[in-house]
Amino acid sequence: MPDSRPRRTFAVISHPDAGKSTLTEALALHARAINEAGAVHGKGDRRGTVSDWMAMEKARGISITSAALQFAYRDHVVNLVDTPGHSDFSEDTYRVLSAVDSAVMLVDAGKGLEPQTLKLFQVCALRGIPVITVINKWDRPGLSALELMDLIHEKIGLRPTPLTWPVGEAGDFRGVLDRRTGEFVKYTRTAGGATRAPERRIGPGEVEEPDAQAWAAAVEEHELLELDGADHDQRRFLAGATTPVMFASALQNFGVAQLLDLLLDLAPAPGATTGVDGAVRQVTDDFSAFVFKVQSGMNAAHRDRLAYARVVSGSFERGMVVTHAATGRPFATKFAQAVFGRETTSVETAEAGDIIGLVNANALRVGDTVYVGPSIEYPPVPTFAPEHFMTASAGDIGRYKQFRRGIEQLDQEGVVQVLRSDLRGDQNPVLAAVGPMQFEVVEDRMTNEFNAPIRFSRLDYQVARRTDAGGAAALAGIRGVEVLQRSDGTHLALFVDQWRAKTTARDHPDVMLEALPAGG
Ligand code: G4P
Repeated sequence: MPDSRPRRTFAVISHPDAGKSTLTEALALHARAINEAGAVHGKGDRRGTVSDWMAMEKARGISITSAALQFAYRDHVVNLVDTPGHSDFSEDTYRVLSAVDSAVMLVDAGKGLEPQTLKLFQVCALRGIPVITVINKWDRPGLSALELMDLIHEKIGLRPTPLTWPVGEAGDFRGVLDRRTGEFVKYTRTAGGATRAPERRIGPGEVEEPDAQAWAAAVEEHELLELDGADHDQRRFLAGATTPVMFASALQNFGVAQLLDLLLDLAPAPGATTGVDGAVRQVTDDFSAFVFKVQSGMNAAHRDRLAYARVVSGSFERGMVVTHAATGRPFATKFAQAVFGRETTSVETAEAGDIIGLVNANALRVGDTVYVGPSIEYPPVPTFAPEHFMTASAGDIGRYKQFRRGIEQLDQEGVVQVLRSDLRGDQNPVLAAVGPMQFEVVEDRMTNEFNAPIRFSRLDYQVARRTDAGGAAALAGIRGVEVLQRSDGTHLALFVDQWRAKTTARDHPDVMLEALPAGG
């Protein structure tokens, strides 16, 4: 039986430390509270699955697995797709954003808009993903609310349209003014945020001491915002012109229910998606999905590749035989998993917007489409301009076979981009990364998972441009420039610096030299 509840699929984008893990945990706690209504939550119970998952992330330093947390809220099913937190490993995060319909931009009230938040926001803008802004840590001293609104407008160009407005400045959090109802939602501090902070709603005329003064200030600013036209407009939000804003303290669980309500009320549901040839799939059409991440080595006992796919249309049923668009071959989905960190449970059905983990997915790559019915292929997930380059060679020549296999696997997973040329030969591929941390991941996985020690040697390139076979021929032999081919066939011209890229383009006006989207 297909599950007909409406879906919301979103991700949280933020700079490390803004409170993403805390918010995720609060959401999970909240959802669990709903699922087990009436159950008593002991203190020990609070640190459940989510915390284990976080512990694993922290132990490994970076998030190696991306997965989704699924829960019911009101009459909806909510999918929170996890984004890895480490700033150097950002290419992965960008891919995750191809699987969501909206994003929550989490901003630390004390820090404003930080670099990684800005980069991630650019990806949302590029993909037309509507963004809801949550100003977090309002229980701590920080910038003023109006200052933060100015920053958002200036730095990301979206018009902030606050839905709630803080009562009390940052560090003196008394609650929020609900700008839609005019009510005072009073904030009550709970010990360590162990349970959902109770929200008391008070009518506008009934606010008493000691909150009266802070309330009056909030009302005044709310009226200013109104005069300024900073009110929510659903059409402009969906068009990517405005961002609804709310104020929260994830640590205290304040604002979490408000955020969930906003997601259900305002964030877009999964919609029709267009394939590369212009064909359109409605969510109610036959099943189709696209792979936004592949992962191997989840289970040390047997090497297996898990492909995370977002259901784009139709209903998924375990056991379904789907067509792999890239090869035209059938793929039997004998095992499928709902995925959240290490915890996996078998999934029987999934609907448009849901994330499934396909087991034994050795043929699937990032960006691939699988479908039933009429053929469809979704546009590829964008790759980002690498800025760090190394040549790799087998650390132990006796293990060259394992080395090759490992490199191929990591290439297919998109952990690094692998570049080759006839000149360099196959033994010494060039690895290209958006952030240097990616090389550490490669080293770790090659050594521990593929049992193939790897040696790196730094290459002095900093800039990559897309070119073609003609460019490869025209640029051969020029100092400070080298053309290599990525495994997807793309030719990349690498330059020692921006200056060399510029002068080469000037001296060779007939050669194609295209900038790639900027990465981390
Ligand atoms: P991240 O996943 O975005 O990197 O951030 P994370 O949730 O780990 O939060 C980073 C720090 O900010 C943590 O403190 C966390 O407790 C704190 N924090 C998150 N939300 C809030 C909030 O609403 N108010 C306040 N005051 N703090 C918040 P930490 O000291 O680094 O870790 P911990 O010892 O508290 O776990």
